[in-house]
Amino acid sequence: MQKPAIAVIGGTGAEGSGLVVRWAHAGYPVIIGSRSAEKADTVAAELRALLPAGHAPISGATNAEAAATGDIVVLSVPYESQAGMAEQIAAGAQGKMVMTVVVPLKPPKVSIAWRPEAGSAAQELQAQLGESVQIVAAFQNIAAGHLRDLDWQPDCDVLYTGDGKEAKAAAAELIRAAGFFAVDAGPLANSAVVEGFTALLIGINARNKVKNSGIRITGIPRNE
Ligand SMILES: NC(=O)c1ccc[n+]([C@@H]2O[C@H](COP(=O)([O-])OP(=O)(O)OC[C@H]3O[C@@H](n4cnc5c(N)ncnc54)[C@H](OP(=O)(O)O)[C@@H]3O)[C@@H](O)[C@H]2O)c1
Repeated sequence: MQKPAIAVIGGTGAEGSGLVVRWAHAGYPVIIGSRSAEKADTVAAELRALLPAGHAPISGATNAEAAATGDIVVLSVPYESQAGMAEQIAAGAQGKMVMTVVVPLKPPKVSIAWRPEAGSAAQELQAQLGESVQIVAAFQNIAAGHLRDLDWQPDCDVLYTGDGKEAKAAAAELIRAAGFFAVDAGPLANSAVVEGFTALLIGINARNKVKNSGIRITGIPRNE
């Protein structure tokens, strides 16, 4: 069966480009969204060159075009630009599942958990995009470091939260396709906890002089 096309808004960046590589490798056509269509095309060519033969197409577009073209939209931009970016993709995203990987951080104290007034960045996004959009928050705790390395065996889990059953099922499929164990962490309101955990991981990285610490949920049977 034809896999849905994924538009990765900010897919030129560290986190987004790693996800692009993993999803294209798993057979999902990907459209990289950028403020510059030219930059998106360049990064698309770079990522295609990283992948072994047989991957799904990777193309580039402006953010608005990508959101309109993709069956699923993934938002992977810095929190400071979330509201502006949501405005640009709002028309194209209506009626679709939007996965957000955005983490709200408050510089300079990025290792201290901080919540926006809406509760979380994901809830803020839901309020801005409206009810026809099903938001799922995921990948907040997955460092970009190893994402492009297809030989890397993830030793951390992806916690995902959301309020729509269908969207959550689709999100779990994308998480598994990217090579991770997907853990349903409940409703979108819980995204505040998952987002907040990233600040803890940033501090844990600094104190342990590492770059890619992560979390794993124990006690759940998994076939490994
Ligand atoms: N890096 C990680 O390890 C990691 C881990 C988990 C979650 N996250 C979260 O994932 C999101 C993306 O992280 P990242 O590290 O990939 O970020 P990034 O590389 O700094 O930015 C991603 C992309 O967003 C666009 N962008 C940057 N500044 C912008 C602005 N002011 N206005 C509009 N667009 C802008 C850029 O794309 P164009 O220039 O092509 O438009 C950029 O390539 C963030 O919310 C981050 O907190 C990151």
